[in-house]
Amino acid sequence: MSTDYTRREFAEFASRAAIGLAAPAVGSAQAQPQATSERRTGPEFPQGFLWGVATSAYQIEGAVNEDGRGVSIWDTFARTPGKIKNGDNAEIANDHYHRYKDDVRLMKDMGVKAYRFSIAWPRIFPSGTGEPNPKGLDFYSRLVDELLSVGIQPFATLYHWDLPQALQDRNGGWQSRDTAKAFADYAGYMAGKLSDRIRHFFTINELYSFVDLGHRGADMEVQGKTVTHAIAPGLKLAPAELNQVRHHAVLAHGLAVQAIRANGRQGTKCGPAENINTPVPLIEAPEHIKAAEIATRELNAGYLTVMLEGRYTDAYLRAAGPDAPRFADEDLRIIASPVDFVGINVYRPSTYVRASDEASGYSEIPFNKSHPKMFSSWHLLGPEVMFWAPRLVQSLWGVKEIYITENGCGASDELSDGTVHDTDRVMFLRNHLMHLHRATEAGVPVRGYFHWSLMDNFEWTDGFGTRFGMVYVDFDTQKRTPKPSASYFREAAARNAVV
Ligand code: NOJ
Repeated sequence: MSTDYTRREFAEFASRAAIGLAAPAVGSAQAQPQATSERRTGPEFPQGFLWGVATSAYQIEGAVNEDGRGVSIWDTFARTPGKIKNGDNAEIANDHYHRYKDDVRLMKDMGVKAYRFSIAWPRIFPSGTGEPNPKGLDFYSRLVDELLSVGIQPFATLYHWDLPQALQDRNGGWQSRDTAKAFADYAGYMAGKLSDRIRHFFTINELYSFVDLGHRGADMEVQGKTVTHAIAPGLKLAPAELNQVRHHAVLAHGLAVQAIRANGRQGTKCGPAENINTPVPLIEAPEHIKAAEIATRELNAGYLTVMLEGRYTDAYLRAAGPDAPRFADEDLRIIASPVDFVGINVYRPSTYVRASDEASGYSEIPFNKSHPKMFSSWHLLGPEVMFWAPRLVQSLWGVKEIYITENGCGASDELSDGTVHDTDRVMFLRNHLMHLHRATEAGVPVRGYFHWSLMDNFEWTDGFGTRFGMVYVDFDTQKRTPKPSASYFREAAARNAVV
């Protein structure tokens, strides 16, 4: 492993890539990496490591009124004046519903081996339950065929926040246990229809986000400033109701796991895709690492901890007091239905911690006001989280297969002279890959990495101005232009290494 490679030769690669980027196709001969044997390689990932990209239905598909799709809570939220920056909405977004073949080609040219996309529940069951809509199913079936035809493995997420509006209106959405049951029915239906070609399903994306940011009123403290980050359905519930929503979300996950097992082909694998709260030990010494383990269980008590342990921690129940969720013991068994893998979305440390004599066993160190950050208001930078997040999941819960289901950063990318200079994203990507590599070297079973995102898209309340893609999208013309980070990704994937 040579470290001087990355400095000296990367400069050469970057200029080559810039030439490639100016050409119409990212896979043009000019920009192809040389054969592995001719190039020295940076730290290599284990054989078979999967290089992927991720998107979600509402953020890219558009076509919100086509082919029988029902209304989702995000349609309603985005149409409410004042909710989304610049009054943006995702009615057209990336027009991926019509351009999916071109987007698959783009992935192929970037050397992508696996694609994590989400299925819009309201396309399949327009009013949440009842009669399925064959045209909705047909879209995902065609997408999967297209992916497989170019050798890209499909990984499908069943819920990425676009709840059918009918369920919100009928049941109060996630406030009702019936929504968890409806989700399981939909999950089972999808597994029955598509597990002949999709071998990996994620149940729910980022439970923490849609529960807490969608139902708590969602003010967040970032470096001493209050950032409001409310998302659909935009409710501000009392603590007892919020805890019940959280319980229904983990219950929905567990019921969906059971439904996928009951309806999917043998060998279909499933698990969650959760944005784990990751406390990073301030110092790498046994007592501080232990403190990070204790903190991880508590900071994820209502989510991954109960999903993987089948119980709420004592501290979680004590803190909730009379507002604790109401449930039967049987619920806990369902919530902890065994999963095949755990997907984690990793963007930033949630805090730094060290050992402490306090009863909790750890103390948090607040972020300095000058701590570096990326473009999004919430996005503090701490690449070491990419080592600690999977490492803690393994050491705490003995998980045998882990996927990084999201990692990436937003930027203010602008197109000039046919290219975008997303040096911040390349820096972010390389540093996170270094730490991920350290995790695989240490024996942490990370099987793949999905970059968020393939292309710029509708970044929820931040609208289209916060760009997370490795491919730039002109939302007026729908022209896609790969950024330097796309070249970086292609090279890393081709060599299965940090480059
Ligand atoms: C997590 C979410 O799953 C995704 O939808 C979002 O765009 C990214 N984080 C970036 O904020």
